[in-house]
Amino acid sequence: MIKKGIILAGGKGTRMSPLTKAVNKQLLPIHDKPLIFYPLSILMLAGIKDILIIVNQGQLSQYKKIIPDGKNFGIKINYIEQKNPNGLPEAFILGEKFIKNQNVCLILGDNFFYGQNLSKILRNCTKLKNGAKVLLHRVNNPERFGVAKVFGKKIRSIKEKPKKFISDLAITGLYFFDRKVCNYAKKLKPSKRGELEIVDLLNRYLKNKKLSAELIGRGGAWLDTGSIEDFYKTSAFVSAIENRQGFKIACLEEIAFNNKWIDKKQLIRAIKFYGNCSYSDYIKNLFK
Ligand code: G1P
Repeated sequence: MIKKGIILAGGKGTRMSPLTKAVNKQLLPIHDKPLIFYPLSILMLAGIKDILIIVNQGQLSQYKKIIPDGKNFGIKINYIEQKNPNGLPEAFILGEKFIKNQNVCLILGDNFFYGQNLSKILRNCTKLKNGAKVLLHRVNNPERFGVAKVFGKKIRSIKEKPKKFISDLAITGLYFFDRKVCNYAKKLKPSKRGELEIVDLLNRYLKNKKLSAELIGRGGAWLDTGSIEDFYKTSAFVSAIENRQGFKIACLEEIAFNNKWIDKKQLIRAIKFYGNCSYSDYIKNLFK
């Protein structure tokens, strides 16, 4: 069982400047809650309770105001500050002490997932013992992502942002790795753009025939928050679903309460903490 998870919430969010000049992108609102709530909810739905959040240097105090230490969700949250974003695999170099030679899940702080079967898929992925696993999702614009060419459930090849079409299955920003990941990450060399590349790390597993894939089907959504346009489209998606159904996406207290990680007393504390707002009203309804 994978028990540890990392959220990579560093990065300067330059594509969304000036919005991101003073506030980290992951703290900006997707509808009624900060973006960071969504990847955190994914780890919690996967049953992961020991979490490291990697943030930009100088922005830790912003995060601690909204997510102090995880006790309010019945989980443990640690933080590390990152000086410069040097590519996704750096998460495993900075996080080595946290990982403690165990299997680990990585989610990018700006990735949004939603769908009926998602919790089941996530729980299955955490059963990984050896190798690495990625979640794939069909997209219209594969040239913007890492993509995987597959045969059945087998991955044949992967490529970062291919100029020429090889597949329309994007590699989403949710990865599951065995304990070898820290050693592999430390051996990576920066690419032409000067960063450690997640695709190079995944290729290391692929070479050893240890890379597997899970597909998020068409009933699931994996949305972008990369550009301002995509950010607002994702926000509109959450607003549409929440208003129609009356259920909230990524209410962390609800997930924790359903998982029996917190009790009613902690829900009352949460209501006081958030104050008079629709998020609190929703938590009040969980008592019924
Ligand atoms: C990164 C990865 C890419 C992956 C994407 C998912 O790209 O390099 O392989 O498909 O995240 O969000 P970036 O968004 O940093 O360009």
